[in-house]
Amino acid sequence: MFGKILDYKINKNVIKVQFEEIEALISIINENVVNFFVPLYKNERNSKAVENLEYRDVNFSAQLKDSKLLIKMNKLNIEVNDNFKIDIYDKNGEVLCRDYRGEREAFERRGYNLHLAKQEGHNINGHKDYKVFVSKVMENDMYFYGLGERTGSLNKKGYHYKNWNTDDPSPHGETFQQLYKSIPFLISIKNKDAFGIFFDNHFESHFDMGKENSSYYYFGAVDGNIDYYFMYGPEVKEVVNQYTNLTGKTPLPQLWTLGYQQCRWSYAPEERVLEIAKAFREKEIPCDTLYLDIDYMDGYRVFTWDKEKFNNPKDFTNKLKEMGFKVVTIIDPGVKVDREYGIYSEGIKNNYFAKDKDGIVYKNVVWPGESVYPDFMNSKVRKWWANNQKIMMDSGVSGIWNDMNEPASFNGPLPEDVVFNEDGNEVTHKEIHNIYGHMMTKATYEGIKEYTKKRPFVITRACYSGTQKYSTVWTGDNVSTWEHLRMSLPMLMNLGLSGLSFSGTDVGGFGHDCTGELLSRWVQVGAFTPLFRNHSSLGTRDQEPWTFDKETEEINKKYIKLRYKILPYLYDSMWEGEKTGAPIIRPLLFNYQDDKKTYEINDEFLCGDNILVAPIVEQGSKQRLVYLPKGNKWIDFWTNEIYDGGEYIIKEAPLDICPIFIKASSIIPMALEQNFIGEKEQDTLILSIYLSDEDEKFTYTHYLDDGESFNYRNGIYNEYEISIENKENLNISFITKNNKYFKNYRKVRFILNNFNGKDIIVNGIKADVKDNLIEINI
Ligand code: GLC
Repeated sequence: MFGKILDYKINKNVIKVQFEEIEALISIINENVVNFFVPLYKNERNSKAVENLEYRDVNFSAQLKDSKLLIKMNKLNIEVNDNFKIDIYDKNGEVLCRDYRGEREAFERRGYNLHLAKQEGHNINGHKDYKVFVSKVMENDMYFYGLGERTGSLNKKGYHYKNWNTDDPSPHGETFQQLYKSIPFLISIKNKDAFGIFFDNHFESHFDMGKENSSYYYFGAVDGNIDYYFMYGPEVKEVVNQYTNLTGKTPLPQLWTLGYQQCRWSYAPEERVLEIAKAFREKEIPCDTLYLDIDYMDGYRVFTWDKEKFNNPKDFTNKLKEMGFKVVTIIDPGVKVDREYGIYSEGIKNNYFAKDKDGIVYKNVVWPGESVYPDFMNSKVRKWWANNQKIMMDSGVSGIWNDMNEPASFNGPLPEDVVFNEDGNEVTHKEIHNIYGHMMTKATYEGIKEYTKKRPFVITRACYSGTQKYSTVWTGDNVSTWEHLRMSLPMLMNLGLSGLSFSGTDVGGFGHDCTGELLSRWVQVGAFTPLFRNHSSLGTRDQEPWTFDKETEEINKKYIKLRYKILPYLYDSMWEGEKTGAPIIRPLLFNYQDDKKTYEINDEFLCGDNILVAPIVEQGSKQRLVYLPKGNKWIDFWTNEIYDGGEYIIKEAPLDICPIFIKASSIIPMALEQNFIGEKEQDTLILSIYLSDEDEKFTYTHYLDDGESFNYRNGIYNEYEISIENKENLNISFITKNNKYFKNYRKVRFILNNFNGKDIIVNGIKADVKDNLIEINI
């Protein structure tokens, strides 16, 4: 396809390589990131994920020698060969990533009548031809991660996945090749060194990690350009940082969004919602958010209220506000065909809906019956949709839930030839399917931001790379099974590695009926998941925390309260994440890449840097094996026992115990108890200090701001630095580093875990300790 290399030209960071048949561009983005671009479809990049491609000044040289173009950078050496075969080495000359030279050799099924199997309903995925295709040599000792929301295990080696946002209501199984989100980003660890590949092509694309043939892994798409970024680590952390530099970091959310959220299809009429709200307050189970699913609308018309069920929406949301609840409402893309309905008639008048190939407004069927689809590729439509958010905000709604935006219909995926108008250029559904949800959430985010001036809370089911800038995500319609609880862990860990840090599953499971035991075990995971939302489907049994029995109600309450305690820690981690891209839920390997035993741990995760959670994900199980990674000691959260890293232990875990371990020599900031965020003045900062049994020195930075506005982007926040030196004495220093936010704590309470009775000096003054507690005024 390319032919031999003829020549090359350098223009700033871009090297144009002339092959016999075509020209390719290699762009040196920074010391760690290189982009490979071949205009097979359009000359220009038209990325919806990378909105500002920033080039850094990089020292590099290029030289054409023996029909090889050698590009030397500080950290990488790249060899470009005939036919655009690329080999990438680290500075020690170790191979990182080599293009595969042979032809594809797909495993062929022989001797059977595949047709019969298909007739019986078996899903047979045969060999697929791609217009865009890049294959790389499968080296020894490779592990694969990322790729967004996927069923199955953490390590994706040996599997094949498709990027085509899909609403498949059948219970998601390990063999599913696609779900609601398309994140064409892969991380690989090879001999302990990591690199990433981001294939920024939003047509239907595929990643195959050695399923087709164990000699190579590949990515390919049905159309579009070759446009991929190679990102060098060697730490996974650095790869994620680079990927999120390109596609955007998950921004700091409003604090209340990290509280517990209760949802169901559907809470209606308003009396039912108020009943749920009262039950939370009476039972003193903390909760910040209640959701309204599709039944709050008038005949499923988006941006309307059913006035019989919700007589006066503003009064209703005010009542909830007084009780400390925020309301989030669902908004689907499908607009009901109804000439009497403002959103439809306005959209028709202004040409805001997608068209069929003959130029007639395209119709399909979703909740409201016959519906049309807003053309989110068009900036005028996005502006219109953004302005419509005002309707909901004026009713006192605090956040918007975007669903069915794959886009879904009751008749399967939309036809490929549905036409969208990208500000003057016609594009088909085939090209933009995977970014439809992304563009919808972008419009939603921008509308809420403009109108409220606060950090918008948007939650979406469909997305593409980069959606993390605009929205939190949930993993769609799971079911109330132990298998789905188990599978949610690697799914959330890979979502986190894929930039989507603010994520969660439907706690308790959406489809089918939950049990008390399953809900409690799921709540134990949810307490450490950034988005902590219980949701269940129409027709399933009640799933609120108190609806099973007294024992599980108490357990659920205990973990929801624990969640509220650790909110300052979660908020600190999200603040850190906005700077580095580091996810909240992350696999152990993210922090312990040197410890290969962490590479395939599916059933434990880290919540930020300091908390390791090893939940129970089997019915009836009351103990489990826990691996504690090498590199530091670990402290049992419940008993304060200290363990060495690099060990497997058996932890007893009756139903009220979720095995939790805190990194020794670390600090967890905590909040005072409350039933919702803002209920009580948080005038005391609690710092739970986890001492190890050795001499040690460590620091922690705690962050505080108003929890809702964008003022923090102008430096209006406080930062407190806590340093601990534990030798002959225990020396604690507490310094306010940045103090631009007017509110401050009045007191700091230090809780000393594993304290062995030495003298304690706080900010140079000997302190009194009582019951391992010290309190100081600041
Ligand atoms: C979809 C969503 C689910 C929602 C339902 C009704 O199935 O995934 O969360 O409850 O639609 O709106």
